[in-house]
Amino acid sequence: MTEHITINGTSFALNGHNVSYRFHVDEKTGELRSDHFGGLVTGSIPDDPEPIVDGWTGMPDRVRCEFPDQGRGDFRVPAVRITQAEGHTVSAFKYKSHEVVEGKPDLPGLPATFARADDASTLVVHLHDKYSDVAADLSYTIFPKYDAVARSVSITNWGTESITVESLASVSVDFPAEELETIGLRGDWAREAHRQRQKIGYGVQSIGSTTGFSSHLHNPFIALVHPSTTESQGEAWGFSLVYSGSFAINVEKGSQGLTRVSAGFHPNHLSWPLAPGETLTSPESVSVYSSSGAGGMSRALHGLYRKHLIKSKFATEGRPALLNSWEGLYFNIDQERMVKLAEESAGLGVKLLVMDDGWFGERHPRTSDAAGLGDWVPNPDRFPEGLAPLVEKVTSLKIADSSSDEKLRFGIWIEPEMVNPKSALYEEHPEWVLHAGQYPRTEQRNQLVLNLGLPEVQEYIITSISNILESAEITYVKWDHNRGIAELPSPSASHAYLLGAYRVFDALTTQFPDVLWEGCASGGGRYDPGILQYFPQVWISDDSDALERIFIQFGSSLAYPASSMAGHISAVPNHQTGRTTPLAFRAHVAMMCGSFGLELVPAELKEDEKKAIPELNALAEKVNPIVLKGDMWRLSIPEESNWPAALFIHEKQAVLFVFQLAPVVNHALPRVRLQGLDPEGLYRVDGQGPYAGSMLMNLGLQYSFRTDYGSKVVFIEQE
Ligand code: DGJ
Repeated sequence: MTEHITINGTSFALNGHNVSYRFHVDEKTGELRSDHFGGLVTGSIPDDPEPIVDGWTGMPDRVRCEFPDQGRGDFRVPAVRITQAEGHTVSAFKYKSHEVVEGKPDLPGLPATFARADDASTLVVHLHDKYSDVAADLSYTIFPKYDAVARSVSITNWGTESITVESLASVSVDFPAEELETIGLRGDWAREAHRQRQKIGYGVQSIGSTTGFSSHLHNPFIALVHPSTTESQGEAWGFSLVYSGSFAINVEKGSQGLTRVSAGFHPNHLSWPLAPGETLTSPESVSVYSSSGAGGMSRALHGLYRKHLIKSKFATEGRPALLNSWEGLYFNIDQERMVKLAEESAGLGVKLLVMDDGWFGERHPRTSDAAGLGDWVPNPDRFPEGLAPLVEKVTSLKIADSSSDEKLRFGIWIEPEMVNPKSALYEEHPEWVLHAGQYPRTEQRNQLVLNLGLPEVQEYIITSISNILESAEITYVKWDHNRGIAELPSPSASHAYLLGAYRVFDALTTQFPDVLWEGCASGGGRYDPGILQYFPQVWISDDSDALERIFIQFGSSLAYPASSMAGHISAVPNHQTGRTTPLAFRAHVAMMCGSFGLELVPAELKEDEKKAIPELNALAEKVNPIVLKGDMWRLSIPEESNWPAALFIHEKQAVLFVFQLAPVVNHALPRVRLQGLDPEGLYRVDGQGPYAGSMLMNLGLQYSFRTDYGSKVVFIEQE
């Protein structure tokens, strides 16, 4: 694979099938200069003319830098800022050497894309600041098939005194002077991943999180596009940070019109001390390029993440249709209610019953959100004999309409990173929570955050959760995380927390590889590539309203594969919005997620709805492998069309989802033009045809909807 990295002296090129990422060492200064990140560029690149240096700023502010440091005349956002032993923040990183390795080395303690020698190759460039004896090692891995470059940086203190890393970007790249726009994903609780497209003007556009988790507010992802780029045409660059903590993404258009993009740690939560000999490694950032619009950029990320990020065996394996107890019962659960819910679920063809919050706590039972977090033992009043008899009962139930003798499976909800002050754990270990000296400990949802930077806290979580999972046949876990970090003993405790959390995730998911792990943080508060390394699916929003979900799911798909999304049919009127939508619409929206399920009490459904569910479950099962493994084509997006549509294509099978959001009275409906098919191939559309791929793509199909919340799921098969 190393043929994808070409080096000419100290000029470096990483070439994918359709991308080149190029930079070189400036002969005069020894610093790295960005040359190109975009479509393939082969051969040599002529030297740029010397920048015109008129007026008061010098050269460093006018050239394209690959690893801009601080304090020597580049006034834009630096990729690194270090407080040196002498107290100043000047650095001077110069090229020292480089090496090429096959495949991809692991990032110590951090989630990262993985590769075999024939999937990827890695270039490591060693930089050194001779004045303070600090090294910066820049690692670039090219995944040619996905036109993706994964980059991370390690800073090592070779000096004799301690230094502090104040800020560190995983990636920093300077684009030439051209008009560009960003597309980001912003939101809040129950309103995650809404697209925001804006022009890049002069100055800094900054998004990020200082919450200690990647957060609902901004996703650790940004796309750069030209003003003319659409879903299917034009150039698009995606930057995705493989990290679940506080982060910063800065897009800066400098005075000369060059655009710098950087993504990495948030400086408010870093100030990482480095004693002599110590190293700090940044999270990994993945940069992809596509000349096929935002859609092509997303497909590159989806493919890479499905194959080279998600470690779970469920990455592309069929997911069971589940029923989660939360919106149906909230905290009102006990043995009897769960058995009843299990029987109703099995009767509808559901394959997995998930017991959400409210099942644990002995001294301080978890009967509301006021108590119990931290005490991972079943509530003796609700489950007098523990979980085992309940699980035995549930897993003995035969699933109705199943062709085999298949039995219902059982899963649970946990939130191990948290503690209620009203818990046995907190009473015994008040020192285990994140706090700052004598300052009051800010509670959110009546809970505090355990300090996962402490090895004893990591061990407590690993042991208590292992005990639960070993106590009964539990095959699914929903891992929740319902608040951000407030007080910290030091800014660096935030990253220490993440390193601890990743250690815990890794230990438990490795110990229980057959468990299907789902990530959650009040919905999509921690939906990021770091989480996906361990948890193949995420509950992406607490908003279960199908109309809102269309925006959230299409938005999330900008960076994340549908295989990583969980979507459920919930009751109407919807608990978050009060909106009533048809059952089929709710089901079809949920089916666009890799994990499909229900979140309601089946006994409360209307008779016709009850009758319809087994059929919808069967449809979901048919759709699921295509959604999990297929390439997603966003044919039209809800921000631009009343008829959002998405097509998933996996080998010879495809499934098309078309929706009508609002009614349009007495007017023709647009045709749905498919993409990604073989123009000369012949396809059956819901059994009709065959039709030529060229017809389906250039003329398209037409569907008719009368009312709002119309939906259609269409099977397409290549002959
Ligand atoms: C927040 C989650 O997003 C919900 O789905 C549910 O699990 C609750 N927490 C339980 O407290």
